[in-house]
Amino acid sequence: MARSSARPGAVPRDQGWRVPRPWFTQAPQAVAAPRPAFGSMKPLTVAEIRERYLRFFEERGHQRLPSDSLVPRDDPTLLFTGAGMNQFKDMFMGKGSLPYRRVTTAQKCLRVPDLENVGLTPRHHTFFEMLGNFSFGDYFKKECIPWEWEFFSRELGIPERQMVVTVYTDDDEAWEIWHRDVGLEPERIFRFGEKENFWPAEAPSKGPNGPCGPCSEIYFDARPDEPYPAHEGLESLPDDRFTEIGNCVFTQFERKPDGALEPLPQRNIDVGLGLERIAAVLAGAPNNFETDLFQPFLQWIAERSGKPYQRDRADDVRMRRITDHVRALVFCIADGAVPSNEGRGYVVRKILRRAARDGYDLGIEGAFLHQMVDVVGAAMGDAYPEVREHAGQCRMLIRSEEESFAAVYRQGAERLARFLADQTMVEGPLAGSGEFAFELHDTHGFPVDITRQIMADRGFVLDEAGFEAAMEAQRQRARAAAASGTDAVFAESAAMQLRAAGVPATEFVGYDRIAEDSTIVALLDAEQKPVESLVGDGFAVVGRTPFYAEGGGQVGDRGTITAGASRAAVHDTTSQDGFHLHRLTVADGTLTVGQDTRLEVDAVARRATERNHTATHLLHAALKQVLGDHVNQAGSLVAPDRLRFDFTHGDKLTRAQVANVEELVNAVVMDSIDVQAKVRSMDEARREGFVALFGEKYGDEVRTLAVGGFSKELCGGTHVRNSGNIGSFRVISDAAISAGTRRIEAATGAVSRSLADLEREQLSELAQLLKAPPGEVATRTKALVDEVKKLRKDLAKALAPDPAQLRQELEQKASSVDGVRVALLVREGLDVKLAQDLLNRAAKSMAPFLGVVLSPAADHVVVAAAATSEVADRAPAVELVRAATGELGGGGGGKPEKAQGRGKDPSRIDDAVRAVRERLSAAGLGT
Ligand code: SER
Repeated sequence: MARSSARPGAVPRDQGWRVPRPWFTQAPQAVAAPRPAFGSMKPLTVAEIRERYLRFFEERGHQRLPSDSLVPRDDPTLLFTGAGMNQFKDMFMGKGSLPYRRVTTAQKCLRVPDLENVGLTPRHHTFFEMLGNFSFGDYFKKECIPWEWEFFSRELGIPERQMVVTVYTDDDEAWEIWHRDVGLEPERIFRFGEKENFWPAEAPSKGPNGPCGPCSEIYFDARPDEPYPAHEGLESLPDDRFTEIGNCVFTQFERKPDGALEPLPQRNIDVGLGLERIAAVLAGAPNNFETDLFQPFLQWIAERSGKPYQRDRADDVRMRRITDHVRALVFCIADGAVPSNEGRGYVVRKILRRAARDGYDLGIEGAFLHQMVDVVGAAMGDAYPEVREHAGQCRMLIRSEEESFAAVYRQGAERLARFLADQTMVEGPLAGSGEFAFELHDTHGFPVDITRQIMADRGFVLDEAGFEAAMEAQRQRARAAAASGTDAVFAESAAMQLRAAGVPATEFVGYDRIAEDSTIVALLDAEQKPVESLVGDGFAVVGRTPFYAEGGGQVGDRGTITAGASRAAVHDTTSQDGFHLHRLTVADGTLTVGQDTRLEVDAVARRATERNHTATHLLHAALKQVLGDHVNQAGSLVAPDRLRFDFTHGDKLTRAQVANVEELVNAVVMDSIDVQAKVRSMDEARREGFVALFGEKYGDEVRTLAVGGFSKELCGGTHVRNSGNIGSFRVISDAAISAGTRRIEAATGAVSRSLADLEREQLSELAQLLKAPPGEVATRTKALVDEVKKLRKDLAKALAPDPAQLRQELEQKASSVDGVRVALLVREGLDVKLAQDLLNRAAKSMAPFLGVVLSPAADHVVVAAAATSEVADRAPAVELVRAATGELGGGGGGKPEKAQGRGKDPSRIDDAVRAVRERLSAAGLGT
């Protein structure tokens, strides 16, 4: 699987998938073998291939492990898991703690750099599954190569004559094994350089640093009867004939910062097989999407859009893209990467929008992607139960994203209309339209095809070259970003350095204790570089710590560390790959590695945080009871002074709902229930009714936290021992943070009480001002508000101009131009009704008549205009109103005879008058 992302510049080639044929009925022309493939009546399904692979390697002594999450744990530098080996990188370096030396997995992967190719080429996906077998310093090439061959030829039944292999330029050892042990003729063993046959690709010359090695790939040959290509001058195998189906990496080097490849202490194996492409090869399908796995997706889209698959090339690409993207979306969200504006969330949002756009272009009406969550569940839920478990949340998040994107789409169309309104007609491409179309596409998610279409409807031609240039610049930026993302797989974090130096992982004892004696095992300076002693700012790592490291929404502990006469204030604590990093400032003396030390957590802050943490669980359970099962946690922050809980729900909570939630939580507080924490297997936890939130792995050990039967969650945080310790709970605010997600802030214990104190003070202050007892503050205030309203109305009436006087004024202002009475009146104190009445009467008595009234008030300007039929065509009233509001801000509407509007900025009244006069002059009615 090295090649798909490793050569971003490669131009993907079609492989005959355009050949028209009824889907799933005829043999595709590009593949020589007749369907059903390789002798079986029915090609193996994706599920069968996955199971056969894992069993094959189990039978050869491998431990079957679950897929890692798509969101890499303990590796903030990496956006998504992109290969099966990611979760084992420490094992390759000989530093991991796994008890196995042979492992096999089916890994969920997401490769964002492939996004643009999805649907266009036969083999690209964003989300895909990688089958893998790994050896950590155990077996090597001699066992690995024949096993892969056996798997493909015997287990899957791919004819031996339909496979060829590649090896790294100077890897004679692998060449010999393929030739002598497997029996391949030399012309079927190709040698390529570091671009094709090293992993990561081109690592020797370009990096990244870290574990790497030469690789050997296995290719399916679609036309084995044709002569083999000559080896000379070939840089890679032509991909209209050969499809890579497996990559064996011999991970035996560590690339050092100076570029040297140092042999690792152990030699490893990292094999990766793209499951979807193997399924396609076995099914004789010309592209990965035309296999059993994807059939229900394409059928669903075909039905919903009313367009059959394989009728129109462009539509087929859209259907494949939606299929790919909806899988990616559901898997990302189920692993906790929810749509947002940054990082992972941005990628998820971008994928979603691309799919939604494809839906519009296919003519699908309304939001539809969320309805496909069940298609993903049906296709993949047996192998990955998380997609079924989180289906409700996926549906809700995807739906609200789809709905807000529909608004983006509308806004894009409006932006374009405004851009075009300022343009004059030209021959050929419209200057600047390429950049504008790109900005619409990139920043506002507005598709260029639609831009092109709308422009064509208005008689404009899109500047395609300008658009392409802007796109290319963007691609360059994306490639640079993607490349640095790959590098990050092996970025040397502080934790990696500590591990390399043999520092043991930190033991956390803070569930039971808040003070502990231990030893300083490592110190890092402010830049996180290891040092022997520390003054000022830096980080300390100790053998055993009571300090909780930030995680699961709970903030890290603060407190003090003392060593002899030296003393440091700990500001917070974070965890990196098993090491607790205490961020601190040494206030007195010096800290030195090896010193005995006393660690004391700030007890007041910790206890307050614990109250909030347990209350967060109770809040979550109460929200589910009050609002429904669709409520799911979308994020949280648990600090000493407050708790913040983000959850999936569409509407603002009513006052009764908030009161209900508070009552439920406070009832549990008053019942003084013991809080029970227990570490157990994920399977046992599920049996006991504990619900996994995001990304937990099956087979993992998890910590469960129960408050009686009221709340059951998986949680690694610290909590009160008894719900009574929470003291009291109250909601402070409820607000929307995005469509479909809300945020509640709440407080417990002393904070909740001081809030009540504050409110009591405010109330008594009000009572004093109103000279009423606190119980009557509301009625007294209401009476006051009503009185003010009435007085304002009376005042306006008293100040309103007299209509008869106004009529006189307007008549005096009206001058005769070209036989028409034209009047422009600027006068304070008129509302729209009065202004229109005035103009109506004038129109009747002075026809042919044309009049405009502008009435400035403190924060707005009333605008009205009227024109009798003789002049309405020359100077339509609605245009006069818009001429004025164009200057004033705001807007207006109406007909040629009668129109009104409202301006926002009274200070620009002179400009508005000028604009109206100009419009009148243009109509030959200037006064
Ligand atoms: N790491 C290699 C790849 O991703 C083999 O698993 O292709």
